[in-house]
Amino acid sequence: MGIDLCKLINLQKIADPRGNLTFIEGGRHIPFEIKRVFYLYDVPGGADRGGHALKICHQFLIAMSGSFDVIVFDGKEKEKFHLNRSYYGLHLPPMIWREMDNFSSGSVCLALASEKYAAVDYYRDYNGFLRALAETK
Ligand code: TYD
Repeated sequence: MGIDLCKLINLQKIADPRGNLTFIEGGRHIPFEIKRVFYLYDVPGGADRGGHALKICHQFLIAMSGSFDVIVFDGKEKEKFHLNRSYYGLHLPPMIWREMDNFSSGSVCLALASEKYAAVDYYRDYNGFLRALAETK
């Protein structure tokens, strides 16, 4: 699991004068079946979200409205993605530390997840995450 597996995925945009439409089928447009959906909204200026890594859960993040940054770290390399359109998103595989910041006013982050919520799937302690990475080598 490395940072090169964190990929932006373009989604189809059906442009229409009545309003644009984008769709996502799990296992087809993103590389996992969708078991859970959650969203971040009303994020106050200057707030940070994320600050964790997941053991087995894949996620796909989309800026449904506005924009924000996702900073990913695999234990070796760090990369920053700026999400600001509804027709692409960022696939985060397991064992990637992620932080989210720079939320624009009124922004909404949609997250699709491959697993139902399980607190035990989380590394919320950064050093614990680094220790786990070292043990799997
Ligand atoms: P948290 O993971 O801390 O949010 P973020 O990492 O995006 O900043 O989640 C905040 C709280 O919501 C935490 O108590 C766990 C709970 N939660 C659920 O119960 N189910 C979920 O699907 C998610 C994502 C969070």
